[in-house]
Amino acid sequence: MSNTQPAAVASERTELRARKVSFAWERTPLHWVPGDPFSTHTMNVLHLLLPAGERWFIHVYRQVLPYIHDEQLRRDVIGFIGQEAVHSQAHDDVLPHLKKLGLDPTPYTAQVDWFFEKLLGDRTLPPGRARRWWLMERVAIIAAIEHYTAFLGDWILNSEALDRKGADPTMLDLLRWHGAEEVEHRSVAFEVFMHVDGGYRRRVRTWGLAFSALVFLWQRGVRFFMENDPSLLDGKASFKAFYDSGKRGTLPSTPALLRSIPRYLSHSYHPSQEGSTAQALDYLAHSPAALAAEARTTGTH
Ligand SMILES: [Fe+2]
Ligand SMILES: [Fe+2]
Repeated sequence: MSNTQPAAVASERTELRARKVSFAWERTPLHWVPGDPFSTHTMNVLHLLLPAGERWFIHVYRQVLPYIHDEQLRRDVIGFIGQEAVHSQAHDDVLPHLKKLGLDPTPYTAQVDWFFEKLLGDRTLPPGRARRWWLMERVAIIAAIEHYTAFLGDWILNSEALDRKGADPTMLDLLRWHGAEEVEHRSVAFEVFMHVDGGYRRRVRTWGLAFSALVFLWQRGVRFFMENDPSLLDGKASFKAFYDSGKRGTLPSTPALLRSIPRYLSHSYHPSQEGSTAQALDYLAHSPAALAAEARTTGTH
């Protein structure tokens, strides 16, 4: 156990619950950021990574529940699991639409499934220290990944450049609804890690693992989409394209991404210090997909 217990910002706390959503994809074009396949496909990678990644979070968290001896944190974890299950399904539902548009993601998603289910899956470890070590390692990896999902959530909620470019409203709503819930539950994974382990060396090591894996999987995913996009003759992905899109505001900026690294590694870091729960809840109260699902349940249209 670490002695470091960074302070949470109390006003950022909220009771978590999964929200139903309903998206209609028929009208979403292949390049949903008009004229910008690179930004489109960089964000499309989320649909490849998140279904398997978030299912894996849930799988790990079900195993960690018995180690949580704080009633509030238990409730948070159960709310977190509920939200991630809906996210995973919502991104999965985009894949058939991409396939219809000529972009079959199956070869790539098969690799991602292997990554989460086999490489990061349960290993045949005997009960005891080794099994616990591997569980704690994965809990810490999830905390590091959730630093980035919260970062991206905060970014997408404030990405006015995408509105100015006329990005597809349904896709923007999916990303902003998801991003808002990521901001809303941004403290859970870190608090779970601090509760069950909290070791600083483990935090640094697993951040390194998570960051490298994300960069590796993401750039492969973007390259996969750019090379297989039926409307592009010579689709390429490059770091320069990423950097330039960040400057234009259609993707997160590289300097902002780099600045987020020392924040996570700081001894005083707590996720509640970043992003705004009020902004997230405001978006969730108006999200067209959430309102559409509510109208379906109540029978009002
Ligand atoms: Fe999520
Ligand atoms: Fe999350």
